Amino acid sequence: MKLNSVIFKLGATILFLQLIILIPLGYIILQLLLNYSVNQTESQLVKLSEKYATQVHHLDDPENLQLLDHLTDMTDTSAVIIDQNGEMIFETNWDQSITDQILTTNQKQQLADGNTVIEEYTNNGSTYLKVAQPISDDSGERASVVLFSSFGLISSSIHNIVILVILASLGAVALAIGFTIFISKKLGAPLIAMEKVAKQIAEKKDFSLRVDYKANDEIGSLATAVNHLSQTLERYQTNRNEFFSNITHELKTPLTYVKGYANAVRHEMYQSESEKDEFLEIIENEADHISNLMDDLMDLSKIEEGKIDLNKESFDINNLAEEMVRRSHIRATQKGLDLYAVTPPHPVKMMADKSRMEQILTNLVENAVRYTENGEIRVEISENDKNVEVFVQDTGIGIKKEDIPFLFERFYRVDKSRSRANGGTGLGLSIVKNLVELHEGSIKFDSELNKGTTVKLTFPKFEKED
Ligand SMILES: Nc1ncnc2c1ncn2[C@@H]1O[C@H](COP(=O)(O)OP(=O)(O)O)[C@@H](O)[C@H]1O
Ligand SMILES: [Mg+2]
Repeated sequence: MKLNSVIFKLGATILFLQLIILIPLGYIILQLLLNYSVNQTESQLVKLSEKYATQVHHLDDPENLQLLDHLTDMTDTSAVIIDQNGEMIFETNWDQSITDQILTTNQKQQLADGNTVIEEYTNNGSTYLKVAQPISDDSGERASVVLFSSFGLISSSIHNIVILVILASLGAVALAIGFTIFISKKLGAPLIAMEKVAKQIAEKKDFSLRVDYKANDEIGSLATAVNHLSQTLERYQTNRNEFFSNITHELKTPLTYVKGYANAVRHEMYQSESEKDEFLEIIENEADHISNLMDDLMDLSKIEEGKIDLNKESFDINNLAEEMVRRSHIRATQKGLDLYAVTPPHPVKMMADKSRMEQILTNLVENAVRYTENGEIRVEISENDKNVEVFVQDTGIGIKKEDIPFLFERFYRVDKSRSRANGGTGLGLSIVKNLVELHEGSIKFDSELNKGTTVKLTFPKFEKED
C-alpha cells in the first residue's frame, strides 16, 4: 500500500480519531478509578476505626488488642493506639517507615475535641491514608486509635485497569488496521482495475478491457461509467475503421473508371467521335459521383458531430411536397412513372428547418424514382392532433424484410450495382435518418418485395418555438 494512497489516508484518519478519543477517555477513567478507590479506602478506614472505638471496653484488656490485630490483618492496614499522653501503647503491622510522626499537634487537638482525623500523605515515596479516631474505655480512660493504609494495594488494582485499557486500545488499533486492510481490498481493487483500464485506453489505444466490479455505490457507478466509456470508444474505433475502408472502396471504383477511360481517350482507343464522347461522358459521370459522395460525406460527418444548426421556421409542408413533385417530375416521366402529391385542403404548418426538410424529401423521392420501374409515386401529407405525417409511397421493386433494419447504415445498399448505376452513394438514408431525428421525428419503412415501398415520416407538432 502506497503512503499517499487513499486507503492509507483513510486508515491513518481512523487511527488518529481512535487515539484522540482513547487517550482522554483513558485518562478520565483512570482519574475516576483513583478517586473512587481513595474514597473507598477512606470510608473503609473510617468505618473500621468507628467500629473499633465502639467495641473498646478496657484499654489494657488483651482481647481488645487482639480484636484490633485481627481487624487490621483482615483489611491489610496498620494500627497504633496512643494514650492521652501521646505514648504508643499498642501497634499492629506497624513499622517505622510508615510515618515519622504518628500525629501532629494539630491532629492531637482535633482528637481531643472528639473529631476524626483524615490525612493523605506521602512518606518515603509511598502514599498513605491516615485515619485517627478518639476512643475511651469504660473506666473513662481516653486514647486514640490511628489506622494507616498504603496505596500499594490500590495502585495494583489500578495497574490492572491501566493494562486492560492499554490492551483494549491495542485491540482497537489492531481492528482499525484490519478494517483498513479489508477496505483497501474492497475499494482498492476496483480503483486499481479502473486505473489499468484508463491507462490501457490512453497509452495503448486498447479499448477491450473492462472493470469487473458491480456494486450499488459510487465506486460501482464509476466502474460502470469507465466500462461505458471504453465500450463507446471501442464501438467508435470499429465504426471508424469500417468507415475508412468503406470510403476507400467507394472512391476506388469511380477512380478506376476515370483512369481507364481517360487512358483510352489519350491513346485514341475509340472507334468513332461519338464513342469518344461516350467515354468522356462516363468520366464526367464518375467525377459527379465522387463529388456527390464527398457532399454526402461532408453532410453526414457534420450531422454526426452535431455541427449543424437547424434554422427552424414555420412553413406549410404542403407547398414543399408539391415543389418536390414538380422538381422530380421530369426524371419520373422519363421513366414513365406517375409522380404526384396528395395534400389536405388546408395548410399544414410545421416548425422545421425548411432546407433540411427539402433534403429529406428529395432523398426519399429520388429513391422512389430510382427503385421503381413502372407505376406511380405518391407523396402524401396528413396531420392529426399530435403529429405531421409524410408518406412517400412507390410501386417499385420493394425491399426484403430482413434488409429493412440495415437501410440506415452508411453505404448499405440492397443491390449495389443498381444503386451505382443510378448515381446512389448508399449514404442517403443515413443522412435522412439523422436529419429526421434532429427534428425529433421518426422514420419507418414498410415494404413488400416486387410490390412497392412506403416510407412514413412522423414529426411532432410544436406548440411553441423552442
Ligand atoms: N423506395 C425504395 N425502394 C426500394 N429500395 C429502396 C428504396 N429506398 C431505399 N432503398 C434501398 O435502400 C438502400 C439505401 O438507400 P440510400 O441510403 O438512399 O442509398 P442509395 O439510394 O444511394 O443507394 C438502397 O441502395 C436501396 O437498396
Ligand atoms: Mg438514396
